[in-house]
Amino acid sequence: MSPLVVAPVGPLVGRIRVPGDKSISHRVLMLAALADGTSTVRGLSDGGDVACTRRIIEALGADVVDAGDGTISIRGGRLEAVDHPLDVGNSGTGIRLLAGLLAGQPFRSVLDGDASIRRRPMDRVLDPLRLMGATVDGRDGLSLAPLEIRGGGLRGIEYRLPVASAQVKGCVLFAGLSAEGPTTVVEDRSSRAHTEELMTAFGLTLERGSDGDLTSVTVQPGRPTAFDHDVAGDPSQAAFWAVAASILPGSEVVVGNVYAGPARSGFVDVLSRMGADITHDPTSGDLTVRHSGLTGTVVTADEVPGLVDEVPILAVAAACADGQTTFEGVGELRVKESDRLATVESELGRMGADVRVDGDTLVVRGSALTGAEVDSHHDHRIAMACAVAALVADGPTTIAGWDAVATSYPTFEADLGLLRGGA
Ligand code: S3P
Repeated sequence: MSPLVVAPVGPLVGRIRVPGDKSISHRVLMLAALADGTSTVRGLSDGGDVACTRRIIEALGADVVDAGDGTISIRGGRLEAVDHPLDVGNSGTGIRLLAGLLAGQPFRSVLDGDASIRRRPMDRVLDPLRLMGATVDGRDGLSLAPLEIRGGGLRGIEYRLPVASAQVKGCVLFAGLSAEGPTTVVEDRSSRAHTEELMTAFGLTLERGSDGDLTSVTVQPGRPTAFDHDVAGDPSQAAFWAVAASILPGSEVVVGNVYAGPARSGFVDVLSRMGADITHDPTSGDLTVRHSGLTGTVVTADEVPGLVDEVPILAVAAACADGQTTFEGVGELRVKESDRLATVESELGRMGADVRVDGDTLVVRGSALTGAEVDSHHDHRIAMACAVAALVADGPTTIAGWDAVATSYPTFEADLGLLRGGA
């Protein structure tokens, strides 16, 4: 695919909807595959990552039918062994959650993905699955994909997360559905709660607890019941428009139906602190943003699980703000679709941003941006962050590897066109 060329624009004005939440979409597909009966889902993410998970549950025996108008029906129940590797594409959520789901199935599976997936750490899911009794192996004895999973015969465990990760929490909870006895996950910094929310909504028995700074969730073994679910819009995609509207004079953008549950709207708090004119109505999901001058802030390590995917676009906001913004405790960004500390520093740096990585801290000082030739590094969020920076840069920006956006937001360019047209 050819690179995207983005020229600076005037204000963004209008109302749009972003794709269905990616985290919720993966989980809904997996839970529907496990449920006896037919589930109906509307508003699923139309990105490539979720399409991979859909193909995988189909290969495992779920019957998935497009019923028109963005509605799909999924008949789940008993899953069957597949004699070829299951391809998660670029999706870390896909591979880690499916590892848990497949560890509970009494057959052998192999999970694989693209070059980025093959570099990302999988010990964080292999370790707890081994404690539960699964036989799991990474490539060449390493904790890297492809992963070979010989599932079944699991026992429940109590597991304290060594990293704040909703993917690991979700993996262990999915495995817990097929274990003997209850399975508990303990975290010291709350990560997104989609697995717990959806499992509870779909008839499974979960119990939450807290002890000082620690929170826990315990799942009992069981099968979800078939369900009907509308997937809310993805806050991580809405964040691109929130920052774009904040930094482009004259803008006023409303993103409708944005998920408003726990550990996903940290970017709204940070932008508010920076002086943004932003509100998120929890009832309608409307995220409303008007242009406003921004000033730097400190994002603490405790806030990071609630905005982990938004750091690249918040770095763009910081580059357009007065003064310095510091993101503390963001080491996890090194093991995302790209090494996001390195790619934020290099690509926004090419555009004239003053970005410095110091250990696990990212420091951005406000400065004028200029158009440049940048690269997505096959990372959708780096591509879109550069596109938003390009809207306020002096001169055009060429983004190589733009096709990466298809993993989560294939209609980003079209939505940009809609908002430009609204001006
Ligand atoms: C996700 C959790 C986060 C996030 C990812 C989606 C999820 O990863 O970065 O894009 O759906 O559980 P970690 O759990 O590894 O932080």
